[in-house]
Order: sequence, then C-alpha cells, then structure tokens
Amino acid sequence: MDKCAVYPGTFDPITNGHLDIVERAAKLFSKIIVAVGENPEKTPLFSHNERFELVKEAVSALELPNITVGQFTGLLAQYAQDTDATAIIRGLRAVSDFEHEFQMALANRKLFPDAETVFLMPSEPFVYLNSSMVKVIARNDGNISQFVPPCVEKALLEKIGGIK
Ligand code: PNS
Repeated sequence: MDKCAVYPGTFDPITNGHLDIVERAAKLFSKIIVAVGENPEKTPLFSHNERFELVKEAVSALELPNITVGQFTGLLAQYAQDTDATAIIRGLRAVSDFEHEFQMALANRKLFPDAETVFLMPSEPFVYLNSSMVKVIARNDGNISQFVPPCVEKALLEKIGGIK
C-alpha cells in the first residue's frame, strides 16, 4: 500500500537541513509532499508563493522521483487529510524543539487521528541550523553558501540587498 507523508514547514527559506530531512523521509515513504504553510507565530521574509517556488527549485535538484511540493493555508491536519497522508514529518534538532513539536503533534492527532507525526533527526552538521540563523548571517554579509542551496542563496541576497 502506498504510504504518503506530508513534510510541512514555513520554509522561510528552505535550508540544507530541511533538504536533509526530505532525503531521509524519501527513503521511508512511497510519496512525500513537502508542504509550504503559514506559521501564525512568524512574519516571513519571503511571500508564500516565493517560498513555494524556492522549495520547488531546491527539491527538484535532489532528483528524487517520489517528492512533490504543495502549499496550504489553514490547518495542517486538514491538508494531511485532503492529501490522504498517513504521516506528518517533522525534523527534530534539539531538546529545545521538543515541547512545541510535542504540542503540535498532539493537536494534529486530535484533529486528524489517521496521520502519525514522525520525527526525524537531521545529520549532525545541520543540527544547529535554522532559517532564522541563515537570515541573520545573510543580513550581516556572512557566507551562507554552506547552509542553503544555490537558488536560495541567490534569492536571499537579492531580497536582503533590496531591503538594506
Ligand atoms: O517551519 P515551521 O515554522 O516550524 O512550520 C510550522 C507549520 C507551518 C508546520 C505550523 O505552524 C502549521 O502547521 N501551521 C498551520 C496551522 C496548524 O495547523 N497548526 C497546528 C495545530 S494548532
């Protein structure tokens, strides 16, 4: 039976850490939908559509046949239901991620009991990495090429150059 998993996130922007999780998830499920959503606690730098386009470009470079990219507004649980997902993938980097992720996983399970949240650990070089750090480094003229795919580096430099 085909097992579809949704890998949701704000992806503002997608990093090599996210891509590491995508590659790991692709080995476990027959289909992965990388789903670009909205986190009500965040004001993103990139628009929903810009984030979606960057995720599409970055993911296509992985050349994995079982990955698609989607976008959603509203509840993740509803999106998981609409896409017949049996799992929701989340990357877990540090203990500090845990409490929030635990709450989200339980809320999503209440809303859509047919999907299990599955936590995956990124490989060690990405354990400390997140999108906010990448934006801070870019804003302060640091080198971000080791943290993000080339399309994101270009987009970030253009966006931040325009804002500065
Ligand atoms: O990359 P992020 O910011 O950690 O991703 C968070 C995201 C977008 C997956 C989360 O905020 C989300 O699911 N947003 C949609 C609203 C929702 O369903 N929230 C969980 C139940 S309260």
